Amino acid sequence: MDHKKTILITGGAGFIGSHVVRLFVKNFPQYQIVNLDKLTYAGNLENLRDIENLPNYRFLKGDITDEPFIENLFAQHPFDSVIHLAAESHVDRSINGPMAFINTNIIGTVNLLNATKKSWTGNMENKLFYHISTDEVYGSLGEEGLFTEETPYDPRSPYSASKAGSDHMVRAWHHTYGLPVVISNCSNNYGPHQFPEKLIPLAICNIKSNREIPVYGKGENVRDWLYVEDHATAIETIFHSGKTGRTYNVGGNNELRNIDLIRILCGIMDNRLGRKQGESEKLVKFVRDRPGHDLRYAIDNTRITGELGWRPSVGFRKGLEKTVDWYLENEKWVSSVLTGAYKSYYRSQYDDR
Ligand code: NAD
Ligand code: DAU
Repeated sequence: MDHKKTILITGGAGFIGSHVVRLFVKNFPQYQIVNLDKLTYAGNLENLRDIENLPNYRFLKGDITDEPFIENLFAQHPFDSVIHLAAESHVDRSINGPMAFINTNIIGTVNLLNATKKSWTGNMENKLFYHISTDEVYGSLGEEGLFTEETPYDPRSPYSASKAGSDHMVRAWHHTYGLPVVISNCSNNYGPHQFPEKLIPLAICNIKSNREIPVYGKGENVRDWLYVEDHATAIETIFHSGKTGRTYNVGGNNELRNIDLIRILCGIMDNRLGRKQGESEKLVKFVRDRPGHDLRYAIDNTRITGELGWRPSVGFRKGLEKTVDWYLENEKWVSSVLTGAYKSYYRSQYDDR
């Protein structure tokens, strides 16, 4: 772990990426971290203000779908490793506009694989292409069972199908060209810096300003929630100790029905905002369901815990309180992302629902 490396992290200005960049920049000063991000609506350099001047960090604005740009980038930089998080990440947006997902998540990933292969051919030693993926590639569970690394792929939304496509490409470059790769598939993350299109930050923002909390269907869908900093430590563990060619599922052993999660969140918000208990819950509005809404995700994380010794460290209530406090204390960040574009997205998604 002591030797120098130059690591390309893609999507480092996004939610999870910014936590991963911070962890690597701060904990591994011997590594040079290059953060490549297109700065879409989801990318925000405010997420990295505290580390932007550190000597082992550099930001590059660029698009992974731009093949000549990516080729040139690899020709100019001797990257030892890639940690690939850049993606279009929101299921509802993928339902309304799948092409951006196919372009970034599949074509963009293939551009990176090709450039890496070209740059590393003849010297694959100590190199690693680490692809960050999602549990959604496995499809939807019924009431029982957990996703293991052997669960057959069964993606059911344009987002999850595009992520599954990218996972297949990464494995194909490993088997066909010998590219050293590792993949992890993680469950739902929450925490600071998450764009308020996703359930938890959206609900926090709405509750704060006394707006309805839109709960899809009957709120019975189940997700397995992991605090984002725990995902970042899992990524660091897999990066340093994962076995090449292997897949690791990452999850928090923390399944909740959406409506139960929202009730816990409302209780915390009542407490923080000095409201009477039960007040925020009155904002819940059951709305038309997401088309093709996956019922349940749940992760069997025995491989990463057993083989690599990683464990989630933040309990759900504590993590949710930390998240609420961050959003309440960072009004400037929140108002800077609740732009006209966000408002028009919100209207198109939720009006008449
Ligand atoms: P995010 O939407 O918050 O951030 C994505 C980042 O990628 C943004 O900074 C964006 O600007 C950048 N980006 C998008 N298109 C790009 C392009 N063409 N070129 C360069 N940069 C581009 O996403 P997130 O929630 O932080 O997710 C990060 C990764 O983790 C994704 O690959 C996602 O599939 C995966 N993942 C997310 C979760 C979750 O719960 N959020 C769970 C498991 C896996
Ligand atoms: O499982 C990992 C995945 O988790 C990641 O790969 C995705 O990038 C990430 O967006 C997330 O996907 P989900 O669709 O599960 O997350 P989202 O926050 O959009 O929704 C969580 C649950 O809440 C889901 O069952 C849908 C529901 N929901 C969501 C929104 C935005 C609502 O009921 N109302 C809402 O307004």
